[in-house]
Amino acid sequence: MKLLKVLQGEPVWPPPVWLMRQAGRYLPEYRALREQAGDFLSLCLNPEFATEVTLQPIRRYGFDAAILFSDILILPMALGQGLSFAQGEGPVLPPLGDVAVLDSASAPGRYAPVLETVRLVRAALPAETALIGFAGGPATVACYMLDGKGGGFPRTRVLAYENPGFVAALLDILAEATIAYLQAQLDAGADCVMLFESWAGIFPPEQFRSFVIAPTRRIVAALKTKNPGVKIIGFPRLSGLLIGEYARTTGVDAVGLDSVTDLPAAVAACPDGMVFQGNLDPLVLKVGGPALDEAVLRLLGQCRGRPHIFNLGHGITPDVPPEHVMRLMNVIRDACSVS
Ligand code: CP3
Repeated sequence: MKLLKVLQGEPVWPPPVWLMRQAGRYLPEYRALREQAGDFLSLCLNPEFATEVTLQPIRRYGFDAAILFSDILILPMALGQGLSFAQGEGPVLPPLGDVAVLDSASAPGRYAPVLETVRLVRAALPAETALIGFAGGPATVACYMLDGKGGGFPRTRVLAYENPGFVAALLDILAEATIAYLQAQLDAGADCVMLFESWAGIFPPEQFRSFVIAPTRRIVAALKTKNPGVKIIGFPRLSGLLIGEYARTTGVDAVGLDSVTDLPAAVAACPDGMVFQGNLDPLVLKVGGPALDEAVLRLLGQCRGRPHIFNLGHGITPDVPPEHVMRLMNVIRDACSVS
């Protein structure tokens, strides 16, 4: 598998490609199945439907990796917190008041359908296509659990100062539950796993160290002890200059780069030979045309000779025309066949 080769630190040309949110609303076949499932959560928790949705972009584009179709908020739901997705408004949870209401023992039973999806997807995928399992990073998941919705997370930010013990207790529970959840995905057939720490960038450095770096290090250490050689991608979005410290100290095998990070600056900040994933601007995928070609070629030039997984800096937006993704794949293929 090209993806695993790169995760071992080997440059591969052309680089393996997959795109965050590659399964989703920009695809008409996704919208059709989502309609049939009723709502987004029912889609995530129906293994046959979730498998089909995971495979849709693989069939259309031949990506080098599939990512399990699920959501980072399935874990809080499995821990007993209410979760719903308001149409067009994103996730809604009752803001958490006390960690005592969380029930780690019941979680595996509640996320069992996701593990069945992993088994079904792995069995259906071509042998050369990697299956990426994932969870949210504890800090990002805690943001949604404490604030109950996206949008700056003002309650979480204040609680981090006013009640650090509460935040620490929550992160502790989440780190342990995340280890069990990712282990279960590996046992079910995931070829590697990724931690989406999408809101890492809202915390000042000291909190970044205790909320992002420390729990990530703990999760990585536990998974690597139990699964020698397992590959883990970390995505500390918008972490700025702290990306180097994150790469040096968490033990992740690859770092996901958002689109505002200058790739050469990230190379300079991280250990030699660090594997990167990203960092094409999702907006240029929407724009398409020559701007897309130019951005793809620039990124290919920057990552040539390095271990790099070609991806966006954040998820595909629902307004991306599917043919722009085909164009991206063709530009990569043509560029790499002549060089
Ligand atoms: O294809 C894939 O990338 C795999 C599936 C996946 C989804 N969400 C599906 C999804 C993954 C890996 C995620 C991760 C996720 N979920 C993150 C981290 C990455 C990121 O985008 O920052 C976060 C923060 C969430 C929480 C979440 N889920 C939000 C904020 C939203 C609403 C925003 C939106 O895009 O609508 C979701 C819903 C969601 N998760 C959708 C999909 C396909 C859209 C649901 C729909 O069909 O209406």
